[in-house]
Amino acid sequence: MRRPLIAGNWKMNLDRAEAVALATAIAERSAAVAGADIAVFPPSVYVDAVSRAVAGTSLAVGAQNLYFEPNGAFTGEISASMLVDLGCRFVILGHSERRHILGETDADVNKKVIAALAAGLLPIVCLGELLGQREAGDTAEVIRRQFDGSLAGVTAGQMARVVLAYEPVWAIGTGKVATPEQVEEVHTDLRKLLADRYNNDVAGSVRIQYGGSVKASNAAQLLGLPNVDGALVGGASLKADEFLSIVAAAGGN
Ligand code: PGA
Repeated sequence: MRRPLIAGNWKMNLDRAEAVALATAIAERSAAVAGADIAVFPPSVYVDAVSRAVAGTSLAVGAQNLYFEPNGAFTGEISASMLVDLGCRFVILGHSERRHILGETDADVNKKVIAALAAGLLPIVCLGELLGQREAGDTAEVIRRQFDGSLAGVTAGQMARVVLAYEPVWAIGTGKVATPEQVEEVHTDLRKLLADRYNNDVAGSVRIQYGGSVKASNAAQLLGLPNVDGALVGGASLKADEFLSIVAAAGGN
């Protein structure tokens, strides 16, 4: 039985007061939610303030990225242990904006995944094809390559602490949602990759989120798919009502 995870990726949005107010509202109004894990991912400079605001509640806090080295001369970067120190439980890694705007490779993502696991963080590892790759019929191959590259060296025991997020790049921030068939097909492929690399237990227990224009109006359909175990939500996570409706659609209350 996989417990859904609803994650709000705030990206580079909100100021400190807005971030604290949004997290506080979500924490208060999701206090009674028993059937889903809920996490918010503020910009890194507000993680500390948000973490303090929701301390003692069931709302988890995560970061949108980290750097794989433990410390040292890496100007502008933030380590996994620093995120743990601020109260982070999760970290999003390999988001398509980092892959395609900031130039992150599978090898970079892999180093970050290993560093996150070593520090005790739960990584949400994002995978997804570009529109041209889907149109060329390359989706399964792209996902397999990202899976192999981003998760190289991750043991079966570690994999139990990893969350995968399938996010077709053409569906992120565009209002275009993948069809239930497209989503289920990729999620099923990911379970096969997990079974082939590890075993059926791992394949059956790893949570696979869908992300890309998830909102209150389409959440129930997407979250109702057999192999979808939650959502990674961007734009719709910036409003408490909208985000909490998605949480409710996960069977949370
Ligand atoms: P979106 O973003 O919900 O705004 O499409 C999803 C994401 O980037 O995680």
